[in-house]
Amino acid sequence: MCGIVAYTGYRQARSILMEGLKRLEYRGYDSAGIAILDGNGGIRMKKSAGRIAVLESKLNGFADGTCGMSHTRWATHGVPSDENAHPHFDASGRIALIHNGIIENYKALGTYLEHRGVVFKSETDTEVLVQLIGHFYNGDLESAVRTALRDVRGTYGIAVICSEHPGKIVAARKGSPLIIGVGDGEYVVASDAAAILQHTTQAIYLHDCEMAVVSEDGFRTTTLDNVPVTKEVAELEMTLDDIELGSHKHFMLKEIMEQPSALADCMRGRVNQQEGRITLGGIANFTRELVHAKRIIITGCGTAWHAGLVGEYLFEELARIPAEVEYASEFRYRNPIIDDGTVVIVMSQSGETADTLAALREARDKGACVIGIVNAVGSTIARETDAGVYLHVGPEIGVASTKAYIGQVMVLAMIAMHLGRRRNLSQPMLQEYLDALKSVPEKIESIVAQSDAIRDVAEEFKNAENWLYLGRGYNYPTALEGALKLKEISYIHAEGMPSAEMKHGPIALITKDMPVVFIATKNSQYDKIVSNMEEIRARRGRIIAVATEGDTDIESLAEHVFYVPDAPEPLQPMITIVPLQLLAYHAAVLRGCDVDKPRNLAKSVTVE
Ligand code: G6P
Repeated sequence: MCGIVAYTGYRQARSILMEGLKRLEYRGYDSAGIAILDGNGGIRMKKSAGRIAVLESKLNGFADGTCGMSHTRWATHGVPSDENAHPHFDASGRIALIHNGIIENYKALGTYLEHRGVVFKSETDTEVLVQLIGHFYNGDLESAVRTALRDVRGTYGIAVICSEHPGKIVAARKGSPLIIGVGDGEYVVASDAAAILQHTTQAIYLHDCEMAVVSEDGFRTTTLDNVPVTKEVAELEMTLDDIELGSHKHFMLKEIMEQPSALADCMRGRVNQQEGRITLGGIANFTRELVHAKRIIITGCGTAWHAGLVGEYLFEELARIPAEVEYASEFRYRNPIIDDGTVVIVMSQSGETADTLAALREARDKGACVIGIVNAVGSTIARETDAGVYLHVGPEIGVASTKAYIGQVMVLAMIAMHLGRRRNLSQPMLQEYLDALKSVPEKIESIVAQSDAIRDVAEEFKNAENWLYLGRGYNYPTALEGALKLKEISYIHAEGMPSAEMKHGPIALITKDMPVVFIATKNSQYDKIVSNMEEIRARRGRIIAVATEGDTDIESLAEHVFYVPDAPEPLQPMITIVPLQLLAYHAAVLRGCDVDKPRNLAKSVTVE
């Protein structure tokens, strides 16, 4: 979603601000802008609908200076246009602001300001905020921001500059992340560490309802009520290599290829084959609550919800704990019943998804023990949960989640086995799973090696506009996730569903033009899925199958087969999804789609 970069220091800001924006491109946006204090008592600004490259092409002769800010906007209020892009100014033209989030009471505030003569230039909620700051401004920028924010309902991460305060940035957050990179005599305020890393690995995280005043001389942090807050400078966990493409064509492909090592990192220090146990330090203090849980609710959005669905199967089978998975956006509003003994697991790659965060708070307010499964270290969800397990798969830049999905399933599997051993899972059974877990990375390695063959299949089917993905049991979430990958990046309509459900409606769609992807590995429901394949074939549907190595019988039913190594059924989701990630990737590339920046999508959805 929207991205914030602001700089103050001794260097010329323009290239730092533009480079920072490029680092945030992956988050999804539709317009961009930049503003710099020009050293002559003015603020120079340029903004543009479209890609950052369009903005860049307009910057010839644009003044430079040592303090400024830049922004990528993902439209919520008002279409993507030059006018609606950030920064926005107050009526006097002295104060400029960039904003992530949504000002929910912007209409009421706008009317209040209009009655006082303010004329708005854009359709955005953001302009209302900067006009309000301008309305309260009497020479003290910090106090005007604070007063304005008192009237605001909604979420924000903001950076504000003022021509009367050269070198100063006022930043504040509520519900939208902000990090301040701390360099030597220079500071970068950003919504994502990726924009900071090139300049420094030292940073402070602003928490909700906190504000920072940053200048080339240092920074001061307070609450929104002006109570001083002392902040520890922390070392950022990611490296530049993590967020750079290297020799890969796209981040999505890089991250698919990285999955074996990402899973090895995820298991490191946790899966101990020799001692036959799983150690999860992050939830050690909550083992009792988890082992005695009467019910586990897993909540998240998008791909994280799919991983949660695998978790439902894992907890019920391996630990015999009733489990259910719920979209965070539904969970938060339906007054969920949280009994004594309910544990809520909150899943999020970014740790910032607005609906997931709200679900967390709902669960916590109702007294549940809330466990986080998060990738982004130090993110809001990671901080607000009682305990948690990080994925440790490294930053994920590709908008279509790949390695984070596999990491989420891996963490759920580790938790389920860990609890299962304390409930019903025998030691020999656990040992068998531990051995199998350790071999998952090399199994994935053998699948990514089939990338070219998968590409050929994508080539053959790339023009089909509707696809069906079918699976049963553990392969059902894989069907959903496989379909999501295809539609996200190639814009092909795809639906995933439990294979048997196909007969209750979707079978009407089957024709010779409809590719049907079956996840048909050797497992407890193999015979049933073969019957479903027969049903599709009888209607001349075209079948692509993901099957277990050695299962040549399947070739009589499927036109194409992607073979995957065998694994215990609960671990198969980490393996079967890989050919489907590659299928979606190649289909998107062959259709000329921008894989890492799919239209309309955002990597981290920080609005409801
Ligand atoms: C967005 C992304 C999805 C992601 C979902 C949840 O929609 O495009 O790829 O699965 O948000 O994100 P989270 O960071 O909470 O896992």
